[in-house]
Amino acid sequence: MEQYIMKGGNPLVGEVTIGGAKNAALGILTAAIMTDDNVLIENLPDVRDINVMLEAIQEIGADVDRIDRHTVKINASNIGEVSVDDEYIRRIRASYYFIGALLGKYKSAQVPLPGGCNIGSRPIDLHLKGFRALGADISVERGAVVAHAIDLVGAHIYLDKVSVGATINVMMAATLAEGQTIIENAAKEPHVVDVANFLNSMGANIKGAGTDIIRIRGVRKLHGTEYSIIPDQIEAGTFMCAAAITRGDVMVKNVIPKHLEAISAKLIEIGCEVIEFDDAVRVVGKPIQHHTNINTLPYPGFPTDMQPQITVTLALAKGTSIVTESIFENRFKYVDELARMGSNIKVEGNVAIIDGVKSFSGASVNAPDLRAGAALVIAGLAADGYTTVDEIGYIQRGYECFEEKLRALGAMIEKVDSERAAQKFQLQVG
Ligand code: EPZ
Repeated sequence: MEQYIMKGGNPLVGEVTIGGAKNAALGILTAAIMTDDNVLIENLPDVRDINVMLEAIQEIGADVDRIDRHTVKINASNIGEVSVDDEYIRRIRASYYFIGALLGKYKSAQVPLPGGCNIGSRPIDLHLKGFRALGADISVERGAVVAHAIDLVGAHIYLDKVSVGATINVMMAATLAEGQTIIENAAKEPHVVDVANFLNSMGANIKGAGTDIIRIRGVRKLHGTEYSIIPDQIEAGTFMCAAAITRGDVMVKNVIPKHLEAISAKLIEIGCEVIEFDDAVRVVGKPIQHHTNINTLPYPGFPTDMQPQITVTLALAKGTSIVTESIFENRFKYVDELARMGSNIKVEGNVAIIDGVKSFSGASVNAPDLRAGAALVIAGLAADGYTTVDEIGYIQRGYECFEEKLRALGAMIEKVDSERAAQKFQLQVG
């Protein structure tokens, strides 16, 4: 079983280049099947969730040509199936985007319901409410969402809760509906805007993405396109926190600094220096960093996907910080793992009260999910001695070449698959 082993203590210094946004790519890849023409997608991250999504797209009959690691050509003119296999749903929740894409294009979809996950219950009632408003008949049969429509007709849809997935899913279906759809209380995340821009590049007529009202005028057909995915806000934020927690100095390149403002603001509050460039952000950690309070919120608020990384950073800052998780109910599971490194954090419901400690000591920990796994790695890089992080499959779902990128910044980290390899690493780094 693969694990990361690392010896903490080196400040991370240097430059790192951020890849394409995983969560934008998941929406864009499914939207790509909505035309019969060729679609070329660039700046695709080479991570597990994306590769599973590509397999699922191929499985329903589309041609998927991986031109290189970060470029794919999709042609969905041969799709023969509007039913997606259960296996893929279990492996990536975002395959719920197939409902919007297939329903929009073929007026029919059958997609198994995604189950709960490690960060809490993740219902899709708002997605279904949106599809029903567009005139689709939706039922749940033997664990799958079955959606049919004779015609999809534009509608005025109010999302009761800000949801990235529901906004993207309904936007995709509405693109090929008759007439105008208005989505109110839409999510404003950068990846919502990226999926809208992608659909517009295929001939859709979507206005207002990035605000809380999205207006979609349905078109009859979408055409082929070439599109480059935006940089990953969360990968960038993770490296920013890695710079802060190790008291390093890292230039995080190929980013859109505006997408990182909430993260930058919090790092500045705790005493880091954050310098913005046109497409880069430099973070300089300071020997003594201070406490602050954080509440996760939909964009432009502080992202829930950065909550574990900032919490571990605050766990090594002076004073008491309070982090409130407002999006998912079960996203503090890693706190027990972090306690093995000597952190002092008490969780009450959706609030973590963090008493900063002077240092962590290396320990063996398990990654409970993707972002928490990444957070435990950066905690290990700031800890005294050796840390091992198990269950790194979670981390590989969303971070490309994580250990290589960290190593290029001076981290002592290795991916190993046996006790012997771990011992070899320890002998090498001394
Ligand atoms: C997306 O999930 C991301 N995933 C998540 O990233 C991210 O944590 C989340 O947005 C919030 O930013 C993808 O983009 C593939 P939501 P999503 O619908 O769309 C509730 C990562 O680490 N809700 O915005 O599924 C829901 O329970 C992952 O990369 C309903 O009640 O999240 C939550 O409390 C993890 N009913 C809130 O809304 C619904 O029908 C926001 O969830 C839908 C959501």
